[in-house]
Amino acid sequence: MKALILVGGFGTRLRPLTLSVPKPLVEFANKPMILHQIEALKAIGVTEVVLAINYQPEVMLNFLKDFETKLEIKITCSQETEPLGTAGPLALARDKLIDGSGEPFFVLNSDVISEYPLKQMIEFHKVHGGEASIMVTKVDEPSKYGVVVTEESTGKVERFVEKPKIFVGNKINAGIYLLNPSVLDRIELRPTSIEKEVFPKIAAEDKLYAMVLPGFWMDIGQPRDYITGLRLYLDSLRKNSSSKLANGPHIVGNVLVDETAKIGEGCLIGPDVAIGPGCIVESGVRLSRCSVMRGVRIKKHACISSSIIGWHSTVGQWARVENLTILGEDVHVCDEIYSNGGVVLPHKEIKSSILKPEIVM
Ligand code: GDD
Ligand code: MG
Repeated sequence: MKALILVGGFGTRLRPLTLSVPKPLVEFANKPMILHQIEALKAIGVTEVVLAINYQPEVMLNFLKDFETKLEIKITCSQETEPLGTAGPLALARDKLIDGSGEPFFVLNSDVISEYPLKQMIEFHKVHGGEASIMVTKVDEPSKYGVVVTEESTGKVERFVEKPKIFVGNKINAGIYLLNPSVLDRIELRPTSIEKEVFPKIAAEDKLYAMVLPGFWMDIGQPRDYITGLRLYLDSLRKNSSSKLANGPHIVGNVLVDETAKIGEGCLIGPDVAIGPGCIVESGVRLSRCSVMRGVRIKKHACISSSIIGWHSTVGQWARVENLTILGEDVHVCDEIYSNGGVVLPHKEIKSSILKPEIVM
């Protein structure tokens, strides 16, 4: 079985992190986003993953080469010369996706996180006998997604409306599809949107079905959602493999700490924190609802909440970093600084406090 992951897009909403690496390689819970997906695909028997990419393919492939061998899965790239949207890349990768077996293939958005119930999806697809299956999930704010209206009893999609201006429902497209090869005959090789141009047509022919995704789901392509997603992911880890979570008197709630990270005396860490490889957290530090990427140093008595600290950054002692502060790679926050929602570009030194949310260039 094959799968295609849509890894194009510039990830602008996740800047400054995506100024250093392509969005799919940004770590989420100490693992590049795309690895969460590749591992889930491998686990249900996918043998080849095609990455539909429109820039920096070398960066991605170099990175994934190691995992190809480790995970025993074939990873190839299908590179666009111009961004082809969310459907065009399928037409471009047509020959890679069709192998004559007639089997359906998976398509995933690269920035969605869930328990990936892909086995159940295959079953669902077999039972309804339509041409395409999509996963849907309920959200409070449907307008920023593709909204899906279904027939309750069968899951047959009646309408698919991408980013609706008026309320049509609260079930949204989760960005995980299982498609018969015949769907490829509907897609032309040009910039085109699967949500706007392909799904509405399949739905009009009564051949599109939606399965309600069991468990949590989040599009982690924006900082606020990334941090919410981390909470949901760690909750699910608690239920399914709690041994991966840290414990001890200094840990509150769900916390993931890489084994090579060092935590000092008298810290209070959690809930909903991920600390990456090689990090040094000095004594008396307080961390909650945050992601600390590889190689970060957090000095004594610093306090960080609801923030993302980019690779190899330093947070000074008694500094207070909060309210969706996002530090790019190699940022240095001086001692006793306060950051209230600062979005700081890579390689900057922060010598004076950031009192309200703003971008620091
Ligand atoms: N190869 C390629 N080329 N990939 C692309 C391109 C492109 O030109 N444009 C976007 N992508 C990829 C993105 O990297 C992402 O993985 C996926 O396509 C979806 O693009 P986003 O930019 O993240 O879209 P969205 O989040 O606004 O909306 C999509 O996802 C929602 C769920 O998170 C839609 O599919 C919505 O219907 C859906 O609800
Ligand atoms: Mg997205």
